[in-house]
Amino acid sequence: MHLSYPLGNTPPVRNHARLLRPVHHAVQGSATRLGARIIPAALVFLTGFKKRRFLLHFQSRVWRRPMGQAMKDTFFQDQIDDLKKRGLYRELRTVEGEQDSSVVINGKRVLMFSSNNYLGLANHPVLKKASMVAASRYGTGSGGSRLISGSMEVHRTLETELALFKGTERALLFSSGYHANVGTISAFSGEGDVILSDELNHASIVDGCRLSKGEVRIYKHADMNCLKEILRRSSRFRKRLIVTDSVFSMDGDIAPLPDIVDLAEKYSALVMVDDAHGTGVLGKKGKGAIEHFGLEGRVDIQMGTLGKALGSFGAFIAGSEDLIHYLLNKARSLLYTTALPPSVCASALAALKILGERPAMISQLRNNATYFREGMRGLGYLIPEGETPILPLILGDPSITMNMAQALFDEGIYVQGIRTPTVPDRTSRLRITLMAIHTMEQLDFGLRAFGKIGKKWIL
Ligand SMILES: Cc1ncc(COP(=O)(O)O)c(C=O)c1O
Repeated sequence: MHLSYPLGNTPPVRNHARLLRPVHHAVQGSATRLGARIIPAALVFLTGFKKRRFLLHFQSRVWRRPMGQAMKDTFFQDQIDDLKKRGLYRELRTVEGEQDSSVVINGKRVLMFSSNNYLGLANHPVLKKASMVAASRYGTGSGGSRLISGSMEVHRTLETELALFKGTERALLFSSGYHANVGTISAFSGEGDVILSDELNHASIVDGCRLSKGEVRIYKHADMNCLKEILRRSSRFRKRLIVTDSVFSMDGDIAPLPDIVDLAEKYSALVMVDDAHGTGVLGKKGKGAIEHFGLEGRVDIQMGTLGKALGSFGAFIAGSEDLIHYLLNKARSLLYTTALPPSVCASALAALKILGERPAMISQLRNNATYFREGMRGLGYLIPEGETPILPLILGDPSITMNMAQALFDEGIYVQGIRTPTVPDRTSRLRITLMAIHTMEQLDFGLRAFGKIGKKWIL
C-alpha cells in the first residue's frame, strides 16, 4: 500500500514534542559542541552562496538559534537565489487587456493556451453587462461576512440556481475554490475521523486536510485497490471522508468516480468531489463529473468553481440541506471572510444562463481539445489520451520546461511551465489548456509552433 506524502502533503501530526523535549535538549547540547567543530571546518571549503546556504541549513535543522542580523539581512535574497538556481523561481506576467483566446503580454500578442477560462466567458459581453448592472443596483461590495452584514438577495438567487444546476437540495457560496475546500474539509473532520485523499489532489484539499483535526490517509493516484485497502483498515474511525478532484488539474485525467462511489457505499464513507475543472466542462450540459458518469444523488459533497469555465469568480458547495446548514455554522473560511461582491454573483448567474441556452459551447470545447490532442500526438509528443481540455506535456526538468515555455512564447504561444511543488518533483511540465473560443486557425498556429520548437528541443 502506498502511503507517501507527495506534493508536500504531510502525515497526520502527532504531538510528541512534550515527550521528546529532554532528548531534544540533549541532542541540541551535543549539536552545539559538534557545531563548534563542524562549522569552522566546513566554512574553509565553502564560498559565497554555498556558505550562506550551509549556515542557513545548519541553523534551521541542526543548531537551532535565533537568526542573527547578518542572516536576517540576506534571508529572502538567499531563498530567491536558491529557487533561481534550481529553476523553480516564479514571476508574474502582466496580461494587458482582457482574458481571451489571444492576449497581449509585454506588448506582444500571443495565443492563450494556459487559461482555465475554458468556455471563453471571462470577457463575454453578457457577463460584463450583468456585472455592471448589479454593481449599479447593489453597489460594489458585500460589506462583510454574510452572517454578520447580511446575505444579499443576489447571493441567495445564485445559490438557488447553482443547486438546480447541480441537482442538489442546496448550494452555498464561498469566496473561492480554495476557501470552499479548506473550509469544508476542516469543518467535516474532527478527532476520531479520517480523510482519504488522492495523492494528486489539489493544494487546497491538501491544506484542508492539514487544518482538519482528523487523521489523513493518502491513496495512490486513482488506485482503487489502495483506496479499498485503506478503507478496509480504517473501521476504527468514526467518520470517513473520501475526497478527490474530479478532473486532476495538472494531468487532465478524470477520477474513477463510479468505483469511488461504490467503495464509499460499501464502507459507509462520505464522498467529496472537487469539480473545479469539471463544472462547465464535463457532461452534455456542462453540469460536471456527476452528470458525466450519471452519479446523481450518490455524491455527498460537490465543490464547483465560478472562476474557471464559468468566467466569473468564487465557488460553491452543493449538497443536502443539512450539509449546507452545517457548513454555515462550522466552515471557518465562510464565517470569517467577506462574501462575494454582487457583481461577481451576477456574472456567474449570467454564465449559468448562457450555458443552459448554448450547450454547443461544451461540444466545441471538446472538439478543440480532441483536435489539439491528436495534432500533438501526430507531431510525436507524448500526450496521454483523455477527454478534458487539459493536456500535460511532461518534460521532467524544471529549467528545460521553462526554457521551452519561453521558446514557445517567442513563437507567439503562451503556455505556462508547471513545476514542483505544484506537481511532484521531476515531473515538470507544460500544461496546455484549450478553450471553446480557439479558432481552427489558432489551433493550427499553435500546432505549427509546437512542431517547430519540438524539433529543436525534444522530438
Ligand atoms: C482542482 C482545483 N480545486 C480547487 C481550486 C481552487 O479554486 P479557486 O481558484 O476558485 O480558488 C483549483 C484552482 O486552480 C483547482 O484546480
